[in-house]
Amino acid sequence: MDFKGKTVLVTGSTRGIGKAIASAFAEKGADVIITGRDKGTTQIVADNIKNEYGVNAYGFTLDLSSDVETAWQEIKKHVDFVDILVNNAGITKDTLFIRMKDEDWEQVINVNLNGTFKITKLVVKDMIKRKTGKIINISSIIGFIGNVGQTNYATTKAGLIGFTKSLAKELAPRNITVNAVAPGFIETDMTENLPAELKEKYLDQIPLKRFGKPRDVADAVLFLASDMASYITGETIHVNGGMY
Ligand SMILES: NC(=O)c1ccc[n+]([C@@H]2O[C@H](COP(=O)([O-])OP(=O)(O)OC[C@H]3O[C@@H](n4cnc5c(N)ncnc54)[C@H](O)[C@@H]3O)[C@@H](O)[C@H]2O)c1
Repeated sequence: MDFKGKTVLVTGSTRGIGKAIASAFAEKGADVIITGRDKGTTQIVADNIKNEYGVNAYGFTLDLSSDVETAWQEIKKHVDFVDILVNNAGITKDTLFIRMKDEDWEQVINVNLNGTFKITKLVVKDMIKRKTGKIINISSIIGFIGNVGQTNYATTKAGLIGFTKSLAKELAPRNITVNAVAPGFIETDMTENLPAELKEKYLDQIPLKRFGKPRDVADAVLFLASDMASYITGETIHVNGGMY
């Protein structure tokens, strides 16, 4: 896979899966736009990637719960266009449904769904003009099987699948593919603080008998963004070690 000459924007790419995705693209020659809530952190991650892989790497504030349009205008001052958009940023606010506060529900919907809608709408305009582009949305196994304490999160991750399939149909005539990756249990900050007994329970359900690494997800994203996947759209790749 060679992504030289391509520019990739990854939302929430300062750590975890997003950072691994951005690094994997840079390793294959792409210029990368690191985005997150804190400008300083995005710049540090971008500088590290630039030093390690010798590509152009930019750090920008892009808080999906805030003014996405203004953030995008700032990015556009420095970058001509985005060839590949990876909608990775996502949050959890876990609690049983009966105890879920309005803000627990709204914050998760706002970042995971509304934020994804907003940035995609902005980025896709140029893709449509240029008649080329790849969009990859990071869903989750939880959107398919559900989970106790995650009605808000599961709703957004299932929603992203409907978003992916519908957008894929709309954008196919413009030569833009839209796909999703649904990770299972991946070792990141998001899963680090789960109780040990819960982690054991999850491990029991994984036929490959290990938790996933961020790079496992990144490899599936790279495939979907590559020419090898040019006839694939509206699809979801599950990266979960066989946990269904
Ligand atoms: N870790 C897992 O097991 C797992 C499993 C399935 C799906 N996922 C999904 O993968 C994606 C990445 O997860 P992760 O495990 O790396 O999580 P993480 O918490 O380590 O990283 C999430 C990233 O999103 C960013 N972010 C949070 N709120 C934001 C906002 N308002 N605007 C912009 N960026 C924001 C964070 O700064 C961070 O960079 C998420 O969408 C998550 O739902 C993770």
